[in-house]
Amino acid sequence: MKAFEYFAQIEDLDSESKYLAHKAKEAAANAYAPYSKFCVGAALILDDGTIVSGANQENAAYPLCMCAERVTLYAAAAQHPEKKIVKLAVVAHKKNHKDLSAATCCGACRQVMLEFEARQNKPFEVIMLGSDKKWIKAPSAASLLPFSFSKESLDG
Ligand code: THU
Repeated sequence: MKAFEYFAQIEDLDSESKYLAHKAKEAAANAYAPYSKFCVGAALILDDGTIVSGANQENAAYPLCMCAERVTLYAAAAQHPEKKIVKLAVVAHKKNHKDLSAATCCGACRQVMLEFEARQNKPFEVIMLGSDKKWIKAPSAASLLPFSFSKESLDG
């Protein structure tokens, strides 16, 4: 399995990852986060170069809040069902703060990402900013969710 990679600065990422992180940051401007005031953006690139992005969408009934990653993944599947995801980036900032906050995808999003990988039968990379302010490039969704539950668990 490919290893995780870490980068001290956004500039150190490869150009595609940097571009996606930039697109994710742009998308965070569309976050609807009046409750948490934590604005998250995600952007993914498909195998034909199409970019799909999204932002978290909250609700007064808190459990209905939807993370940026899942907004983006589901939009990609609904709009481009035949294309494969190559890479996904996620960034976050607190409302009215310019500096990015650490935002490593939540467990629910990791589970959904895993299903997307299984559907397309190909891993995709995940770019995110860790709590030590280092950029992380994960080689796959599966690498972010060891001992996971999947279709195989149901079949086995
Ligand atoms: N959130 C995301 O969009 N992605 C994550 O990976 C973690 C959390 C959102 C959900 C909620 O709107 C806000 O951030 C605070 O949890």
